[in-house]
Amino acid sequence: MNSAANLMLAAICFSVTSAIYLPNGQGPKTLKYLLEPPVYAEVIGQRGGNATLPCVLQSKPNQYKVKWTKLETHSHGSENIVMITNGQAHKPYGLLGQRASLRKAHAMDASLRLSNLELDDEGSYRCELINGVEDESVIITLRIEGMVFPYQSKNGRYKFNYQEAKEACAEQDGTLASFKQLYKAWTEGLDWCNAGWLMDGTVQYPILQPRAECGGKLLPGIRSYGPRDRIRDHFDAFCFTSISTGIVFFVGGPLTFGEAVEACKDDEAVLALVGQLYSAWHLLGYDQCDGGWLRDGSVRFPITTPRKHCGGTVEAGVRTFGYPNKTLRFYGAYCYR
Ligand SMILES: *[C@@H]1O[C@H](CO)[C@@H](O)[C@H](O)[C@H]1NC(C)=O
Ligand SMILES: *[C@@H]1O[C@H](CO)[C@@H](O)[C@H](O)[C@H]1NC(C)=O
Repeated sequence: MNSAANLMLAAICFSVTSAIYLPNGQGPKTLKYLLEPPVYAEVIGQRGGNATLPCVLQSKPNQYKVKWTKLETHSHGSENIVMITNGQAHKPYGLLGQRASLRKAHAMDASLRLSNLELDDEGSYRCELINGVEDESVIITLRIEGMVFPYQSKNGRYKFNYQEAKEACAEQDGTLASFKQLYKAWTEGLDWCNAGWLMDGTVQYPILQPRAECGGKLLPGIRSYGPRDRIRDHFDAFCFTSISTGIVFFVGGPLTFGEAVEACKDDEAVLALVGQLYSAWHLLGYDQCDGGWLRDGSVRFPITTPRKHCGGTVEAGVRTFGYPNKTLRFYGAYCYR
């Protein structure tokens, strides 16, 4: 649409409100009641931690409600309300509502607090002031600190449909990654030549060093297969995980898989999940040059300082031996407690 048409549309749609919409579609320039831009447009939280999404009134209509909703990228048609307040009483809604409260730092404060953050709390939230005439809203983005890792089935490459990919990530202490999370991981060094499902149902993979066998010699970037058939198409998965409360530690081998299970148990721990090993590597700089069993039957080791005898000198990463025969007695164990 050209900007003249945009302007006309804006004039038609918003002639009854005080908001001035810019021709380039950037949204309202001034709001009457809500502080805009919000104090922070993006808030970063940690899994298990708390976050406050700011929404402050600059003036108060006589009668109003403030409604907080979480905007879902994969919309199910219904609105995902988290909290509604009329300035005096408030009511939480839904599962997320159980972990939500209002900050109420002062009379004009409608900021939302979320406690015990979970991975899929990440996303956009709308604080909407409703007074029946001049409804206004601001959008705040909540980002959960974490990292993306690729995950492949023990049955080989490209074995997951969408639902299976989602479950595989959950089993490894993660969720399917969003495009934003994959994009950020790419800027931080993720180069992976197998396509994987993302939360939005698209299939993509991040390439830093363009090569013929990985989508051709285009510019570095995220290669996309676009949205795929969630039931019939099969790929790997990109999972997102975050820091967890426990610790990951190595027990030396050689152990079979069964002995590794017992070795962790002896230390009042369990075999670690793939997501837990990645998060220890990425967020805590865990480095251990020994292959160890994980709970999914894979053998991996985390390297932050690349060196010759630990899988090469080029890049840091979690290296994998795939899923060896569980009766082999070659490896140690990565335990989680
Ligand atoms: C998060 O908030 C809860 C109350 O909602 C509080 O008990 C807890 O200590 C807070 N946690 C952190 C890490 O601040
Ligand atoms: C694992 O190795 C054992 C002993 O070599 C063998 O009997 C068994 O069939 C192997 N299992 C698989 C799944 O390959």
